[in-house]
Amino acid sequence: MFYTVIGTQWGDEGKGKIVDWLASKVDVVVRFQGGNNAGHTIKIRNKIFKLSLLPSGIIRGKKCIIGNGVVLDPWALVKEIKKLSSQNIKVDPSNLMIAENICLILPIHQIIDEFNENLRGSEIIGTTKKGIGPAYEDKVGRRSIRLCDLNDNELLKNKINNLINFHVLRFKKNNKKINSSELFKKLKNIHKSLKKYVQPTWKILNRLANRNETILFEGAQGALLDLDFGTYPYVTSSNTLSGQIFAGSGFGRRDNHQILGITKAYTTRVGSGPFPTELTDSIGNYLGKKGNEFGTVTKRKRRCGWFDSNLVKQTVKISGVNSIILTKLDVLDDLKEIKICIGYNIEGKKYDYLPSSESMQKKIIPIYKTFKGWQTSTFGTKKWSDLPRNAKIYISSIEKLVETNVSTISTGPERTQTINKKNLL
Ligand code: GDP
Ligand code: IMO
Ligand code: MG
Repeated sequence: MFYTVIGTQWGDEGKGKIVDWLASKVDVVVRFQGGNNAGHTIKIRNKIFKLSLLPSGIIRGKKCIIGNGVVLDPWALVKEIKKLSSQNIKVDPSNLMIAENICLILPIHQIIDEFNENLRGSEIIGTTKKGIGPAYEDKVGRRSIRLCDLNDNELLKNKINNLINFHVLRFKKNNKKINSSELFKKLKNIHKSLKKYVQPTWKILNRLANRNETILFEGAQGALLDLDFGTYPYVTSSNTLSGQIFAGSGFGRRDNHQILGITKAYTTRVGSGPFPTELTDSIGNYLGKKGNEFGTVTKRKRRCGWFDSNLVKQTVKISGVNSIILTKLDVLDDLKEIKICIGYNIEGKKYDYLPSSESMQKKIIPIYKTFKGWQTSTFGTKKWSDLPRNAKIYISSIEKLVETNVSTISTGPERTQTINKKNLL
């Protein structure tokens, strides 16, 4: 059996918690896109684990693969491995493998990320400044340094020179220098810590699948940050949809696959860009405070708003989501009334989808349906039958509006605070 976990909104839906929960029944967890822009928080009793590059299955000691679709900051990965070791989580070649054809994020990419943001003036994307966009640009431009290049000194020197020649004018213009021999030394040095993990992971993955091992593909970010279908240009630089798992890992099987759409019971977004149901009032503040909505990576305050069924209905279709895992239901507990956006009004015309045009997205007026709150604590609830009636109505309404069943409900950050409604586990 194969599973994919992806975010259906703007990221931070609670994918890390759900992957950790599901990981009890899987053998292998695979990352297939993004990089250390991702931040997944996993809480187990009094311990908090923060992961950016390592698949969340690492906490349960599962085999983990960082696939070729990821852009890898090797220094960030080594730091993350060290941090986890200090929390008694073992990372070694028996449980971590990295694709040999993965493209690297280099220190120059973080600088270029900053240049690019400055160039946009008031229209900044609000990136995580981890160098994600510039690293993917170099990948597509066929200039990237890949992990497998670090074995061959001559090739590596040539590739560094080629890359620097491409970027040098921009660096000069910004009074910055790139030192090729320093970069070479740094890369050779970090390679010592990482080479033991490097593998043709596509081959291993297909072999494990053919041995009937259960594989889980762990998405980062969310569908609305997808490079093609998100709120472009306010998106990340990778495809975050389920379709990316194949190109981003080299996995070839198309059978027995469940796509799980992780969906917050309301909506959040970090960084700039359209957010039709954003609440800038006391309810928005309440959601941020109760939901502890601060970015795992950049610590930025997340923007908060009502659940937008128009958007989720669209993203579940694009990713072929089989069922939704609804998270953070408990955050809505105290509200007297809860709204769900059921469509858009743009210049007097109704829309049941998000038009791609930026100028139209700016003019969206959400159409809402109001639901009665339950004003009872659902925190930590483990059984569907223990949920208050109004919470059940809210969840069933989401199912109808987004035309997808809700298989699981998360009622707190811990593994155990989960309602396994459709017996996914
Ligand atoms: P990810 O990027 O999708 O993995 O999500 P993050 O980890 O960045 O953000 C989700 C946050 O919500 C984390 O701090 C989780 O511990 C927390 N969380 C996850 N599920 C729940 C839930 O059902 N209720 C509450 N209160 N917190 C949750
Ligand atoms: P997880 O995996 C939320 C957002 C950034 C910015 C935009 C582009 O934790 O859900 P980038 O650095 O990728 O070029 O930034 O994407 N962003 C995220 N927002 N969760 C994430 O990951 C994100 N990764 C990137 O805030 O708006
Ligand atoms: Mg996150």
